Amino acid sequence: MAFGWIDEQARARRRAGLVRTLRPRPADSPLLDLASNDYLGLSRHPEVAEGAAAAARTWGGGSTGSRLVTGTTELHTELERELAEFCGFEAALVFSSGYAANLAAVTALAPHGSLIVSDAGNHASLIDGCRLARGTTQVVAHADPDAVRKALGTHDGPAVAVSDTVFSVDGDAAPLAGLAAACREHGAGLVVDDAHGLGVLGNGGRGAPYAVGLAGAEDVVVTVTLSKSLGSQGGAVLGPARVIDHLVNAARTFIFDTGLAPAAAGAALAALRLLRREPERAARAREVASELHGRLTAAGLEAVRPDAAVVSVRAPSPEEAVQWAADCRSAGLAVGCFRPPSVPDGISRLRLTARADLSGAELDRAVRVIGETRP
Ligand SMILES: Cc1ncc(COP(=O)(O)O)c(C=O)c1O
Repeated sequence: MAFGWIDEQARARRRAGLVRTLRPRPADSPLLDLASNDYLGLSRHPEVAEGAAAAARTWGGGSTGSRLVTGTTELHTELERELAEFCGFEAALVFSSGYAANLAAVTALAPHGSLIVSDAGNHASLIDGCRLARGTTQVVAHADPDAVRKALGTHDGPAVAVSDTVFSVDGDAAPLAGLAAACREHGAGLVVDDAHGLGVLGNGGRGAPYAVGLAGAEDVVVTVTLSKSLGSQGGAVLGPARVIDHLVNAARTFIFDTGLAPAAAGAALAALRLLRREPERAARAREVASELHGRLTAAGLEAVRPDAAVVSVRAPSPEEAVQWAADCRSAGLAVGCFRPPSVPDGISRLRLTARADLSGAELDRAVRVIGETRP
């Protein structure tokens, strides 16, 4: 039977406690949200919603074509200019998702004969970029500049190291300065994914590379998503103008994809302008994360110290993690649940996000529910 093997896979997934299901979210959800990536609480901000609505009224529901044909509006170039300027880079290129931006950066910067050195904890979209790229990938130990240095030393020819800046599973930060130094010793480029750093780290949320003085460097390329702190949808690559020009000409997920919807571009631009005006939102997200971590550990839970806005709590098994998250939900709290294959080390976790707009009372409630429902 066609697709007969799917049933066997579904059975194996059920046996392992790894079945995933969709839960449509009502517009007026009563749940306290510690699961979304809306780090700054901007996705429903009136200015962000109006940015989307105004863009849709002006430009329509879709961008109407690929970026090189009709899909580049003046709004797209405005967003690219302001995003690059905010993060401290010469140029930016907007994509329909952060996923597409990562595929573009890795594939276009790792040609035949090149080496890609990839952190073992990287996000799936960077991993897929490595899989699609023509270069050869070497996976190295997590957050280990010496391992990167050693791998680069084995190769003669173009090379890049790729890493998340803040890892999505445990919320720990990459050793960016060490990675850049290792790359520079070998004349290699550094590509980092700042999906969880933009809006949270760096002065006023300018991102992790900005925080460590790597913004604008000629050998550093950064990818971001517009879907987390900026409360919209889409992605971008930031870097030297010559790299961005190269992507326009060589990145398949840029060339063969319809341009970002105007509403998403308008929402992201509105959020960016808001963040410029209210830079304290970034510091507040970090403060909430640290507060949440403190309260969880005081309650005896095994939480990883956060470097940005993601707080991870270890669970004993995938089944117990799923049950824990379900029990939280029944008690009015939405939390994320990470388990294999989304975790590189096989350890299941609850994943909590510390939104800048969470109050002290909400944090109290969240920690109480997580403590009371623990396996
Ligand atoms: C580290 C990281 N990179 C990239 C992405 C993909 O971004 P997008 O959702 O905009 O496709 C995500 C998650 O969504 C992420 O967590």
